[in-house]
Amino acid sequence: MKKKISEIFEERFGGHGTFYASAGRINLIGEHTDYNGGFVFPGAIDKVIMAEIRPNDTMTVRVFSIDLNEYAEFGLNEDDKPAQSWARYIFGVCREILKRGGVVHGFDAVFAGNVPLGAGLSSSAALESCFAFALNDLFNDNKIDKFELARIGQSTEHNYCGVKCGIMDQFASVFGQKGKLMRLDCRSMEYEYFPFNPEDYELILVDSAVKHELVDSPYNRRRESCERVARRLGIDTLRDADMEMLNKVKSDITAEDYFRAKFVIEEKQRVLDVCDALNRGDYETVGEKMYETHAGLSKDYEVSCEELDYLNDIARECGVTGSRIMGGGFGGCTINLVKKDLRDKFVKTVVEKFTLKYGHAPKIYDVIISDGASKLE
Ligand code: GLA
Repeated sequence: MKKKISEIFEERFGGHGTFYASAGRINLIGEHTDYNGGFVFPGAIDKVIMAEIRPNDTMTVRVFSIDLNEYAEFGLNEDDKPAQSWARYIFGVCREILKRGGVVHGFDAVFAGNVPLGAGLSSSAALESCFAFALNDLFNDNKIDKFELARIGQSTEHNYCGVKCGIMDQFASVFGQKGKLMRLDCRSMEYEYFPFNPEDYELILVDSAVKHELVDSPYNRRRESCERVARRLGIDTLRDADMEMLNKVKSDITAEDYFRAKFVIEEKQRVLDVCDALNRGDYETVGEKMYETHAGLSKDYEVSCEELDYLNDIARECGVTGSRIMGGGFGGCTINLVKKDLRDKFVKTVVEKFTLKYGHAPKIYDVIISDGASKLE
């Protein structure tokens, strides 16, 4: 990928710039908890967005996407928003840095990636954090701290891409470390690295190849439900709610809002339970919690779909330790905690059964927990 980027950069812009990369993410458990002030448990993966970038002494950004074979050019003022949606992620990052008093001038860039799009692996966060990290290095002497880089990506989603996401994806993409998952408390922003190298298990992603679209989507409506319930309870976020409190207001809120909040309250506890189980090396409990999360996301939070529920059923039938839909939902993939000696059988069965039913094969990715945003040599 690096070689290709370098060739195309030279061809388009002449000479060379600096290379940066940032990663997609997985999340072991803690879904839709980030914007509720709860806990998440993500890690960066070995699928990245990589860019070569060089300041061009103008106030214009010129950028080429190899994967889409598209070029975009835009200025740095608020009304210079580019037409292409992919370019808005980069434009948004520039704008969010400028709004925070940081420096961004024009630059030339070529980028490519191998984070599958729409698979729930946060390709957009990888793109945002790759450019946020690079522009911090190139124009700001790295003065913007890492949390702020993550927030710049998150604000880009909110203000330029229409998704009111939480902080998990950008956090994972910026803070990720090889071989380690991270438990982040999204209220205090305290975090802890957890080495994750189970001897007998692997994490396998099964991508349904059903695409989701979070913009103008049910994602923002899920968030609104949670905020409505929090307001009714007189608290900032559902982090401070429990089932007793929720049951007391049950008759004042819609059934839909009730089940959304119930999921969040239960999921918050599951992250803590999984941490305890990991500390004991008890992967059976980790797996059981993953199945519980899937059931909650499917029935109470309603962000699953037929294909993902089917993937989950197949995992259970095969004796997979844990399986659940991962990320925002509405398509994408399941994350599976699989005993090493079951791996081949599971992959074979899931590919066969899914293909038979839906006419296309799911994609299988082995997960390697890797580093997040960085400057490349
Ligand atoms: C998307 C969002 C995240 C998070 C997850 C669900 O990936 O970008 O902030 O809310 O969905 O856990």
